Amino acid sequence: MTQGLGHRLDAAAASLPRHIAIIMDGNGRWAKKRYMPRTLGHREGAEAVRRTVTACAELGVPYLTLFAFSSENWKRPADEVDDLMWLLRSYLQREVNELNRQRVRIGFIGERDRLAPDLITLIENAELQTRNNDGLVFTIALNYGGQNDIVSAARRLAEEVAAGSLRPDQITPESFAAHLMTLGLPDPDLIIRTSGEQRLSNFMLWQSAYSELVFIDTLWPDFSRESLEQAIDLFNRRERRFGATGES
Ligand code: IPE
Ligand code: IPE
Ligand code: MG
Repeated sequence: MTQGLGHRLDAAAASLPRHIAIIMDGNGRWAKKRYMPRTLGHREGAEAVRRTVTACAELGVPYLTLFAFSSENWKRPADEVDDLMWLLRSYLQREVNELNRQRVRIGFIGERDRLAPDLITLIENAELQTRNNDGLVFTIALNYGGQNDIVSAARRLAEEVAAGSLRPDQITPESFAAHLMTLGLPDPDLIIRTSGEQRLSNFMLWQSAYSELVFIDTLWPDFSRESLEQAIDLFNRRERRFGATGES
């Protein structure tokens, strides 16, 4: 299969990250630069989501996670929260069949209790419809917060200990991780954040222990396949040590 023209990624030399996670940021600033309402920035951001999922599927990236809405994003004006939820609904209504055709497996992480019932139904249907697919594992972090993820895992472990089904010394990094919402996903190898901000904003706090972080100035609506390939190039130039010396 051809890689297309003009892409920077040297497919032969590159080792693809197994799991890419993206903090999609800068929709508001993209709109502001154009004297447009923030919601148009989010709409354009949804196009960037389409491009990115397709690019990852075509490149053969096994796992992609996109941070769509944080547990703190409820602090935004109600209109903007509504817009974001509507965009997600329309994204799911329009894209799931096509993603299914591309053998993408869709999953969600984050607390569902605060979401509208019809959105929960769309989410459950998307997961159900695509659960046997063997292509890209595409996870959407929605109402996700890394601290909540860790606290709920700790609470469930505490309940198991209180019920007598678990001994405290059986709590290990592995058993802890098995109680996180990301169960079944490898830790992200590469976390990309767009828009120039250099923080995690409560994303994957446990799982990012050894992730390579790539911060790029591009605003999310402008994120393209080329931006993705540039980030993968940067990833490939990093030396991952995992605490060792780096000499083999
Ligand atoms: C990212 O863009 C979308 C979400 C966080 C939901 P922002 O809306 O945060 O855009 P900026 O940071 O205001 O530019
Ligand atoms: C992080 O972006 C959340 C998502 C990308 C969904 P924010 O724009 O909400 O983060 P802060 O507020 O700048 O840290
Ligand atoms: Mg932002």
